[in-house]
Amino acid sequence: GKVCLAYSGGLDTSVILAWLLEQGYEVIAFMANIGQEEDFAAAEEKALAIGATKYVLVDVRKEFVEQVLFPAVQVNAIYENVYLLGTSLARPVIAKAQIEVAEKEGCFAVSHGCTGKGNDQVRFELSFYALKPDVKVIAPWRDPSFFERFAGRKDLLDYAAQKGIPVTQTKAKPWSTDENMAHISFEAGILEDPNTTPPKDMWKLTVDPIDAPDEPEDFVVEFEKGIPKKLILSDGEEVTDPVTLFITANGIARRNGVGRIDIVENRFIGIKSRGCYETPGLTLLRSAHIDLEGLTLDREVRSIRDAFVTPTYSKLLYNGMYFTPECEYVRSMIQPSQNTVNGLVRARCYKGSVTILGRSSSTEKLYDATESSMDELTGFQPQDASGFIAVQSIRIKKYGEKAREDGKV
Ligand code: ARG
Ligand code: SIN
Repeated sequence: GKVCLAYSGGLDTSVILAWLLEQGYEVIAFMANIGQEEDFAAAEEKALAIGATKYVLVDVRKEFVEQVLFPAVQVNAIYENVYLLGTSLARPVIAKAQIEVAEKEGCFAVSHGCTGKGNDQVRFELSFYALKPDVKVIAPWRDPSFFERFAGRKDLLDYAAQKGIPVTQTKAKPWSTDENMAHISFEAGILEDPNTTPPKDMWKLTVDPIDAPDEPEDFVVEFEKGIPKKLILSDGEEVTDPVTLFITANGIARRNGVGRIDIVENRFIGIKSRGCYETPGLTLLRSAHIDLEGLTLDREVRSIRDAFVTPTYSKLLYNGMYFTPECEYVRSMIQPSQNTVNGLVRARCYKGSVTILGRSSSTEKLYDATESSMDELTGFQPQDASGFIAVQSIRIKKYGEKAREDGKV
């Protein structure tokens, strides 16, 4: 039978490809272009040289930006206060493209190179089962006949040599990476000691804030219903195409050292893990979006969204539950929260930081400068605030009386 393998061109999935062939399967090597820096032609050549029947590359960048990254900006998605979910966000898009290729090519199974300890195996496989419930999944890193044979990196290298698989990287980097248009992750290897500071040359997508330009870079983001619609650069250039806009935001953040993250996080399976991430453009767009919500979003809509929708959606994504009824439900709550999030944010990147210079909205009327002013007596009567405080204080006075009785005050 035919197997559709999520191929990366690296050592692990190259060995997996050869091993699948050895098991008697025919292999379709699938790769998604999700905005990672990659030599796709070299990967194709390598997959075919190892023995794949076919190499299929699917460009999912537009879908990734429009269907997943922009909604993540709208909801200010974040996991455990720090991680902007760069890997988690990409998985549903990749899994969907892989299942489409598997169906088109008549594959009975799909395969991947995820380890048995991580989040990605869960994310991929739950997505596969939601999109094609009868699909068979081959997870070599959980199959004893595979992982007992390839116990260490040396076994993989020996097998690669034996099968004539070219190993491109001369010296393996002491960590593992995963990259897409939104981010790159660094995990494992020397990073497993949570007290090890990443070496300066590990970081790839952003310049070290210390080395970033001494001149700040200003820009403007225009949002419509919480979606970035236009990015205006310091030289006046305007970008509107969603993919170009995201890549341009990446560019501003990258050259100014914005978007580095270092976290010890809780994986879905219950293991703690240390990860270093670079999420340049998403950091910038998310900051601008949060700011505009201050001006344009109703207080109670925001409160409910922050208490429920943002953490729930973020956790569902982290845990690989994108294609589930609960995620469909929670996702449907994002758009209605964003109807008023329209306007412009002027911001500045400078040596690792994003600061807001100002914001405006020509359509939203929630903010009223006269009403807010400390110099004007309009909006409501000062006596009204006395009544407001008097009513608010009814139960608080009771609390205070009891506290004094109990000697707590
Ligand atoms: N810890 C992050 C997450 O679970 C990053 C995972 C990176 N994945 C990888 N295959 N290297 O989302
Ligand atoms: C892996 O284990 O394959 C990568 C890390 C993760 O999925 O959490």
